[in-house]
This record gives sequence, structure tokens and C-alpha cells, in this order.
Amino acid sequence: MAEKYPGSVTGLRLITGKGGVGKTTVASALALHAAGRGERVLLVSTDPTGALGQIFPGVTDGARMVARGLEAVELTRRVVLDRWRERFGEEIYQVLRSLLPVERDVLDYLEGVPGLEEEFLLSYLLDALDSERYDRVVWDAAPTAGTLALLEAQALFYDHLTQAHRLYLKLQGYLKGADPTPLIEGWRALTGRILTMLRERTRAWVVAQPERLPVVQGLELMAALDRFGIALERAVLNRVLPEDACPGCAFYAAKVREQRVWARRWREESPAPVRELPEFAAAPLDPRALDEVARRLVQAPNGDSHA
Ligand SMILES: Nc1ncnc2c1ncn2[C@@H]1O[C@H](COP(=O)(O)OP(=O)(O)OP(=O)(O)O)[C@@H](O)[C@H]1O
Ligand SMILES: [Mg+2]
Repeated sequence: MAEKYPGSVTGLRLITGKGGVGKTTVASALALHAAGRGERVLLVSTDPTGALGQIFPGVTDGARMVARGLEAVELTRRVVLDRWRERFGEEIYQVLRSLLPVERDVLDYLEGVPGLEEEFLLSYLLDALDSERYDRVVWDAAPTAGTLALLEAQALFYDHLTQAHRLYLKLQGYLKGADPTPLIEGWRALTGRILTMLRERTRAWVVAQPERLPVVQGLELMAALDRFGIALERAVLNRVLPEDACPGCAFYAAKVREQRVWARRWREESPAPVRELPEFAAAPLDPRALDEVARRLVQAPNGDSHA
């Protein structure tokens, strides 16, 4: 049975971790696996250097079918900001124009407002979840720092909008021109819904490989996600070297010992159940290899299957 979210609403699976650890591999494998079980799945990459095209050639900045039951999209900054303009651009321009002598290109400057791009990137995910086109959305997120900045910007944005609204209410009697209250309120409501999506409909998978930095950053990331109120579903340890692959090789043995230290730290300190993937001889890019990855990810150590 597919794992269902409260009220059977479509759930968001967030895949994150340090750069290069295997996020795209894990996200693609999970998305293909869910689609293979009959779910309608959307795989979204928001990593500007995500390289989803390595696995799904032809993936673009518009959602398109890449396998049976699976659509994929590589969201770019341009697509995200165009959506923002479409939704709020004209309204913002009209409000500003009534208060200040500005031209339409003021919107170009506004695109740089902190938190705006993140807000619309997340609103894309929210729209996908609410569209009823998908049973599941898998989000291949940017590396650690980017993901945290995105989440923090969201909370800050909400605070700013709340304050902007209060400030405007105080000034209302003095300002002439278009009333920005509905705009601010609409925006604040959207941000509130995004925060609810992250806190109630999202499950995070944090990926690391058994090395110092990916493990240390991955553990910090899990703590941060938890503080933010995002549920942790799995902690993936990728690229674990098979212990006996090279008998008598001193360098290999040393590497395995080094990995063991960080693997132990990951297993002991991770607040989420751990799933492990071995180092494969060839990069797991084709559907068969990804199927093997998914099988290991969804199989509990006691053999129970759980997706
Ligand atoms: N277990 C594995 N064995 C062998 N190769 C792997 C394994 N996992 C991932 N790779 C390969 O390592 C490279 C990086 O993996 P991937 O692109 O999934 O990482 P990422 O975390 O998404 O990277 P980025 O932060 O750049 O987006 C890819 O070429 C991938 O095929
Ligand atoms: Mg990637």
C-alpha cells in the first residue's frame, strides 16, 4: 500500500543533502518506483545545477512525461519569476504607480527582493500538490545551504508581510491611491499555505555519503529541518564501499576504515531511520539501476517493504 498523508492529500517528498551526495539519484529512483506502483508522480528539480537530464534526457523547465506515470520538470529562476509576474505583477505595478512615479520596469527591480523567488518556487510545488494531477510530488532540492536559506526566507517573508500589513493599516488615513491591503493579504495567505505545506505535508529524506563533511552537514540539516517543523522520513547513506571488494589492497582497506567511522556516526546520530546504498561500479542512471536503488531505499532492514 502506498503511504498516505493525513486526509489522503498529495504529499511532498523533499530530497536534500550536501552537493554531489546522490540527491538526484535518490529522488529519481523514488519517483520512478512510486510511478511503477501506479501512482501519478511529479519530480521537480529546483537545483540550478541539478542535472536531472542525466537521468531523464529531454527534461525541460515545463513538466513533461518522462516515464509511465512520471512527469519531470527542472524549474529555472526565469520560469519561477515569470509565474510571479503573471500572478502579482500587474497588481503590484498598479499599487506602486498610484503611490510613486514609477514605470512598469520597476517590476524588474522587484524581482531581486529577498525571498520572492523562493516564495514562488514553493508556490509551484503547492500548486502541483493541490492540482489533483498527482498522487505524489518528489522534490529534488538544492544542496544544504540553498534549502535552508529557502525555508528561512519563507518564515521571514511571512513576518515581513504581517508587519507590512500592520504598517499599512496605521498609515491608511494618510496615504492616497490604490489600496495595497488585498495584495498584502493575498500574499500573506499564500505564504501561510506554503508554511503549512512544509510543516504538514512534507517528508524529508536527507542524503549523505560516509565522509566527514556530508555527514556533519547532513546531521545539521536534519536538526534544522526538525526545528523548522519538517518531518524527517529517512537518512540515506549513499556510496558505502563493499568491505571485501579488494582483499589485500592497503589503500582500499584504509578507505573502508575511514568510511566506517562516518557511517557509524550517521547511523548513531541520525534522528530518522537509515537506508544504505552501496558504491556501484557504474553510475546508476538507467531505469534498471534506479530500480535497484529504489528497492534498497524502500526495503526496511528486516525485509519489510515500505515506500
Ligand atoms: N551509489 C552510487 N554509486 C555510484 N555512483 C553514484 C552513486 N550514487 C550517485 N552516483 C553518481 O554520482 C554522481 C552524483 O550523484 P547525484 O547527481 O545523484 O548527486 P546530487 O546530490 O544530486 O548532486 P548535486 O548536488 O550536484 O545535484 C552522479 O553521476 C551519480 O550517477
Ligand atoms: Mg542533483
